[in-house]
Amino acid sequence: MDQMVLVGPSSQALALKVAQELSIKAIATEYKQFPDGENYLRWQIEDEKVVMGKEIIIIHTLGAGGGPGKSQNDRMLELFMMIDSAKRMGAGKIKVVVPYLAYSRQDKVFRPGECKFAELVLRLIESCGANEFFTVDVHAPEIFNAVQIPCHNLDPMKSLADYLRGLKLKNPTVVSPDKGSRDRAAQFAASLGSNIPVVDFDKKRDVKTGEVKMVGDAAVNGKEVIIADDIIATGGTMALAIKIAKESGASRVFAVATHPLLIGNGQFNLINAGAEIIGTDCIDSKFSQVSMAKLIADAVRK
Ligand code: R5P
Repeated sequence: MDQMVLVGPSSQALALKVAQELSIKAIATEYKQFPDGENYLRWQIEDEKVVMGKEIIIIHTLGAGGGPGKSQNDRMLELFMMIDSAKRMGAGKIKVVVPYLAYSRQDKVFRPGECKFAELVLRLIESCGANEFFTVDVHAPEIFNAVQIPCHNLDPMKSLADYLRGLKLKNPTVVSPDKGSRDRAAQFAASLGSNIPVVDFDKKRDVKTGEVKMVGDAAVNGKEVIIADDIIATGGTMALAIKIAKESGASRVFAVATHPLLIGNGQFNLINAGAEIIGTDCIDSKFSQVSMAKLIADAVRK
């Protein structure tokens, strides 16, 4: 089956790179918001027959940003429209690549009466007509059990470690900011080199107030500290870890994340705390130093 990439509005550069890696055609979309806030999207095609029988790879991240009024909820609606129209136009197979899956942190019922929204998002993607789902470094892969379609969690740690290795650090230590990031940090350290120490900090969040506290003990005087996490949202978690690392005498601190959302003053807070931010193009920003294009292309290749 011939393949074609549909370039989602929120992953334009990444989707084009994937199409180039695969040497296949890329189609853009036309999208806007009506004055009342409703979303509109169409494929930039004149003849719907070009979709018939093709394997369509839709690449569209669900981070907020990328233009006024574009929340993750808008991005989600655009995604549903892209999948639904691919199905209606007779696509042979629909592979959906969502580099950053919004709501992935709502994977559990933390307080009575909540919705497991991460699972609901996946079920909606499936019910629109996706045949296969791909994402990068999802917060909790257990959510894949909520759907029948094959789901793939692509691992960016090797690519991030390759980038950091290029900086020729002399004495790096990897820090996991919480228990949930332990495996990720260990894998990152193993990809970075042999015998690189991994230190665990302990983060606790009050589920009612959202207040976060962190304790940690790191023998990093004069060393380079790399804090590895999946998501930087407000930057609160990273800022606490940077503070401990700096107070412990770290010579250089890197805030490394697959998904640097950097909401509000996140960027200021981390840079002001003395860290260098490194991220991937799962979120299209100036911190997209590490591209996921090859990883995604290899995963969706026939
Ligand atoms: C939470 O468990 C995640 O792995 C991240 O640590 C968290 O989402 C970061 O959020 P923020 O930047 O707002 O502290």
